Amino acid sequence: MSATPTARAGFAITPFDAPLGAEVVGLDLAAPLSDADFALLHRAHLDHHVLVFRDQRITPAQQVAFSRRFGALQIHVLRQFQLPSDPEVLIISNIKENGQPIGLGDAGHFWHSDLSYKAVPSLGSMLHAQELPADGGDTLFANQHTAWESLPRHLQRAVEGASAEHSYLAKYAELQRRNPWRPNLTQAQIDEVVPVQHPIVRTHPETGRRALFVSEHFTTRVVGLAPEASDALLAALFEHSTRPEHIYRHQWRAHDMVFWDNRSLMHLAAGCPEDQRRMLYRTTIEGDAPF
Ligand code: SIN
Repeated sequence: MSATPTARAGFAITPFDAPLGAEVVGLDLAAPLSDADFALLHRAHLDHHVLVFRDQRITPAQQVAFSRRFGALQIHVLRQFQLPSDPEVLIISNIKENGQPIGLGDAGHFWHSDLSYKAVPSLGSMLHAQELPADGGDTLFANQHTAWESLPRHLQRAVEGASAEHSYLAKYAELQRRNPWRPNLTQAQIDEVVPVQHPIVRTHPETGRRALFVSEHFTTRVVGLAPEASDALLAALFEHSTRPEHIYRHQWRAHDMVFWDNRSLMHLAAGCPEDQRRMLYRTTIEGDAPF
């Protein structure tokens, strides 16, 4: 990987030897960020889809402030797992205190794009490492631009102009069976996540590049197809979109901050041994209605 010093900035963008991702070297997110530096980061995020900032000693409030530079923040429907001091922060953790989970322990168990089940899904998410396991705990990111561009022509024709339904509840019962700590949803929570329909191929609102936008976690059916045909088409898309050639695997280091683009990528949490503690803080930035 070769470092690309950014003009004027005191930091460099170093692309990974991977289908996506870059490290931002030499930037302290605790320090004020000038508009010029923000513009460089914004461009790098569009170009590389995942930005990794190492060794960031920032508070949750600083994470919230940095996230807000990119847009309004979204609050996850599982309010139980908000950080009490900073409700815009969702706790991602397998830690239990007095037998109760302190965070969402199985977020990312299936490939997904954050909040694709909302009418206005997420622009991007930031995850800041608080406590990491000795073994495992990686996060995988799959480039959905290259997934679309390399999709066989007959599948491109099958999904061009088509829509799919996304539902927060799609895998909820299955996750509850695996993880009994997962709370039952109240009626108010269920009402907050009514299924939505989005184009299967979306256009990135800032770059104009096209991307596949379906996931094994939240996409339930292709609108207008019979169930068997819909299941077969989605299975082919899921298989193609998560092939190794589209993937960057992030191995976490202490105090990493990772910022990804939910309009370009899907992600997956690889998991870690249950007896090893893992905790990260997530902020989620609102995007646009996909088109
Ligand atoms: C997520 O899906 O936001 C969490 C990913 C992870 O825990 O690695």
